[in-house]
Amino acid sequence: MSPGEGIALADVSGPAAEGPYYVPSGDEIAIFERCHARELAVMLKGPTGCGKTRFVEYMAWRLRRPLVTIACHDDLTASDLVGRFLIRHDGTVWQDGPLTRAVREGAICYLDEVVEARQDTVVVLHPLTDHRRVLPIDRTGETIVAAPGFQLVVSYNPGYQRMLKDLKPSTRQRFVALEFDFPPPEREAAIVAHEGGVDEPLAHALVALAARLRGLHDRGLAEVPSTRLLVAAARLVASGTDVRAACRAAIVAPLSDDASLAAAMRDLVDATFV
Ligand SMILES: Nc1ncnc2c1ncn2[C@@H]1O[C@H](COP(=O)(O)OP(=O)(O)OP(=O)(O)O)[C@@H](O)[C@H]1O
Ligand SMILES: [Mg+2]
Repeated sequence: MSPGEGIALADVSGPAAEGPYYVPSGDEIAIFERCHARELAVMLKGPTGCGKTRFVEYMAWRLRRPLVTIACHDDLTASDLVGRFLIRHDGTVWQDGPLTRAVREGAICYLDEVVEARQDTVVVLHPLTDHRRVLPIDRTGETIVAAPGFQLVVSYNPGYQRMLKDLKPSTRQRFVALEFDFPPPEREAAIVAHEGGVDEPLAHALVALAARLRGLHDRGLAEVPSTRLLVAAARLVASGTDVRAACRAAIVAPLSDDASLAAAMRDLVDATFV
């Protein structure tokens, strides 16, 4: 992956009147707002596809802050975050990385799947998360004090099997952690109806199917269907696909390659949509 790939700068300074669609599950909005006001960094923990990214997009809109999103991966270096000297025909120029831009602008900086990043990359975040709120740039000798409004947010999926990959306690203990999970059925159905463009009864049926499939976790299904997969199935149905075919393609097939688990899931699909 080339440097800078997977890094996006979204400016929400001129947002749509309503902002991103986000259905809260509990008091996460209020807690996040208090963390923002108190300059506390936040960690979002939860399974894939349960609304973490959407929540950050919504909060950035709500707090009227720009949002800088960085997808972490194991090739991500400290320079990818902080910046580097570029060699040009007339000499070298310094170019800020996305973290430095966020620190200067007072943006919300969202590091997605932070556990994928190398330890020596993650330590760059440490001085930003304590009372100093600074970003030292070794290469230039500069120390940047974070502009008001700057906030660090990281996400992390604790469910994956990562024997060797985990955040160091010295990193974890710098964040207030908000735990995410799939929303309660009524709310998940509202999300599926809105995002998938289907009516409420079908959205409820998809959520009921998800509850049954999530029950297969105990029978060896490592990854259970996320809200994202339900939305995908709903979209297929909304565009004219038969509901059982949509569930097989958008829910069953992505979840497992195991023939017997897939058969058990298809049976549950057929039992839900007779
Ligand atoms: N609470 C919610 N409100 C609105 N939409 C939601 C909510 N939860 C999930 N969704 C829907 O599910 C999709 C996936 O959510 P999102 O991308 O935020 O997941 P995530 O937790 O960031 O997953 P990952 O860990 O894989 O990055 C969203 O695009 C949205 O359509
Ligand atoms: Mg995400």
